[in-house]
Amino acid sequence: MSNSSTATAHPAPSTNGLEGVVAATTALSHVFGEEGKLVYRGYDIHELAGKASFEEVAYLLWVGHLPTQQELDEFNHKLGQNRSLPDGVITALRAMPHETPPMDALRTGVSMLGSTMPGTFDEDPDLDEAIALAARFPAILAAFFRLRQGKEPIKGRADLNTAQNYLYQLFGKEPDERHWQPLETYLVLLADHGLNASTFTARVIASTGSDLVSSVTGAVGALKGPLHGGAPSKVLDMLNEIGTVDNVDAWLTAALDRGDRLMGFGHRVYKAEDPRAEILRGMAERASDPDFFALSKKTEERALALLNERKPGRRLYTNVEFYSAAVLAAVGLPGDMFTPTFAVSRSVGWSAHVLEQRANNRLIRPASEFVGEQGKKFVPIDER
Ligand code: ACO
Repeated sequence: MSNSSTATAHPAPSTNGLEGVVAATTALSHVFGEEGKLVYRGYDIHELAGKASFEEVAYLLWVGHLPTQQELDEFNHKLGQNRSLPDGVITALRAMPHETPPMDALRTGVSMLGSTMPGTFDEDPDLDEAIALAARFPAILAAFFRLRQGKEPIKGRADLNTAQNYLYQLFGKEPDERHWQPLETYLVLLADHGLNASTFTARVIASTGSDLVSSVTGAVGALKGPLHGGAPSKVLDMLNEIGTVDNVDAWLTAALDRGDRLMGFGHRVYKAEDPRAEILRGMAERASDPDFFALSKKTEERALALLNERKPGRRLYTNVEFYSAAVLAAVGLPGDMFTPTFAVSRSVGWSAHVLEQRANNRLIRPASEFVGEQGKKFVPIDER
């Protein structure tokens, strides 16, 4: 039974979801939602995709300019020296049930780097720490991927780039160009994206004075959710369930009738097509099986038409996740490795944001609109 309260009925907070709220200053990247444009440190994403290597983009985000050849050689050398995992991380990955979602294995593995690499990560993150952390994401995932199949992890190779090395550590053989090149472009496209939910998480944790590993571990957890980075395997599930082009309309109509969200469509900021979706569509057409691409294309066309009919004025377009599914499947990855592979790329953006936050830090501590009760009196348990 409730006792006295001075609360009054109150509307839901107007800042629900922090939509449109400016909560940080950044020079790293920006999403121009109305125009469907994405910029990394002054470069439109179309300038970089398919031209810059993932390592050049990581250097750009972390350091602030594109590297010279000498800077890139030194940077690649450092990345190559940071690909091996401490024994403690491998032991922990080995102990995990094989059914563990790879995103959970990654979150735990990243967190463990903090305790198994003493002296590497302190309270004052810098570029060397960002390299030491981000360069180990592929190794953690590849080790877990192999262990769950009863295979032993493979050591990384300093002579391979990030995309090649990731595929090498996953599958145990040097990858074909037709696999590592689309993966490299995918990694470039996903490296940073303004103040998205996981980046905000990383910046909030960094703003408390906590360390880089804690900030990035929190970000991995935020990326996992289907409203953020968890959608692409669900896109694959959706396409597999639809099965044939003849079934597209019936399947989408039934899903929308149930009130389901169509995975791979809609975005908090883009009110035009996500430029990454446009680039990934072209890549999917070149890289994936023609029947699968035809099914994806038909599903996209009908989904856009139905969303426009059912949600007029909401401006729902294809987002990055829709064609990520086709591209990553063509590269040879199973669905449950899609979001973790997104994290391999975004680890660069997260750590760049942590460094930027700490360069000009102020504790991020927003206010809330209080809609609870006040003035209640404690009643002993035997009198309730
Ligand atoms: N399918 C059906 N309806 C949708 C979808 C969708 N994919 N996305 C938005 N809507 C509808 C909502 O139901 C809502 O309708 P209503 O106003 O009639 O209630 C309206 O469009 C606005 O939706 P919001 O939830 O207010 O939009 P929000 O900005 O919060 O959502 C989000 C953005 C979470 C990405 C949403 O579009 C969504 O759930 N998409 C599907 C999941 C997905 O693709 N996630 C990946 C996002 S990309 C990334 O993070 C890397």
